[in-house]
Amino acid sequence: MYLTREEEHMFNGEYGEGLAKCMRLLVVLGELFEAKKMVKVKSCHVSGVSYKNIGEPGLELLKGFAEENVRVRVKTTLNPSGMDRKRWKKTGLDKDFAKKQSEVLKAFKRMGVSLSCSCIPYLIGNKPKFGDYVAWAESSATVYANSVLGAKTNRESGLSALASAVTGRTPYYGYLLEENRKPNVRVKVKFKPSNQLEISALGYFVGKNFPEKVPFFSGLGLVSKDWLKVLGAGLASAGAIALYHVENLTPEAKFFSEDNLKDIEKFEVGLGEVKQTIQDLSEAYERCEAVFLGCPHYSLSQLREVAAFLRGKKVKPKARLWIFTSRLIYEKAKKLGYVRLVEKAGGLVLCDTCMVVSPLERLGLEVVYTDSCKAAHYLPSTNRLKVKLENTLECLRRITV
Ligand code: F3S
Repeated sequence: MYLTREEEHMFNGEYGEGLAKCMRLLVVLGELFEAKKMVKVKSCHVSGVSYKNIGEPGLELLKGFAEENVRVRVKTTLNPSGMDRKRWKKTGLDKDFAKKQSEVLKAFKRMGVSLSCSCIPYLIGNKPKFGDYVAWAESSATVYANSVLGAKTNRESGLSALASAVTGRTPYYGYLLEENRKPNVRVKVKFKPSNQLEISALGYFVGKNFPEKVPFFSGLGLVSKDWLKVLGAGLASAGAIALYHVENLTPEAKFFSEDNLKDIEKFEVGLGEVKQTIQDLSEAYERCEAVFLGCPHYSLSQLREVAAFLRGKKVKPKARLWIFTSRLIYEKAKKLGYVRLVEKAGGLVLCDTCMVVSPLERLGLEVVYTDSCKAAHYLPSTNRLKVKLENTLECLRRITV
């Protein structure tokens, strides 16, 4: 693999051992995928933030980097951590976990990483431009960056994204190459999704059937950015999908004419398959004691919808309604009065964390209701929780009086 003079200096440890480790990791990764060179990245997004997931070995690694003065060279944001930094006590977490999680965040901060703690970096200041090379971890963010923004990233791990942040480089392979961005399955959508859950399940169903492909959707119409976020999260959680195109909507779709698409595999999805997907991911359960929304983190407009529904309503006694978002969006929602409406109804808007990476299994819940197939995919294994999928408004109806 070709390295520039500066990259060689990094590799040989001339800028310190910490940076050398990061460069060597990227070289190994690049050689594994037969990359011929490195390219400079405009930004990074790092996952592996929750102490629940990385534990003591992860914390020690990060502390080691911070102590060795390893610093990031490009704008770098963080995925959700294991707790809301300000209101962790309200979510039943113990002091020991909070202390360890704070140490993780402190180490990232010392490295120059922004403590954004959200999976929607593109809505809170880390928004690459069309064609930019970036190194993003977190599958729902990666697929959004590639598909909706037209930036170029592979599905990085937390560690490879951090190594790119520190070196400012990523190996040139995979979705960074034009030839790998071409669609190779055409998905004809035979129904008009009527809510966010249906879009999420459409993504999940296609991701499950074509886990390694680049789908080209037609017949979907002009859906909102919020729905594209949800579609991508579904695709990326059921499969390894990192890029999709939507006819007349996503920025690279226009590069593929009917002629380009005529020889690729064709697939049709109707409402029946989507409803079946929702049913397959759902528990048959009627009692509703917890609704968790915000996987991926909710945007301001999604919070507005929830707040509007909750006006004049109350969350049932002893039930929980938690909505997860980024701190920046929380602050905006607070100014606009949405947070007050949620809290007046007895719900909580939580930041810095999410339902999957926070140790919610400690709450003693049996089943949670949510509107996200990604959450339904992970919660049973990560948090030993059963999931019932309902669309957003139905979830809210179930939990309120
Ligand atoms: Fe985001 Fe957590 Fe879901 S990181 S996409 S809210 S699993």
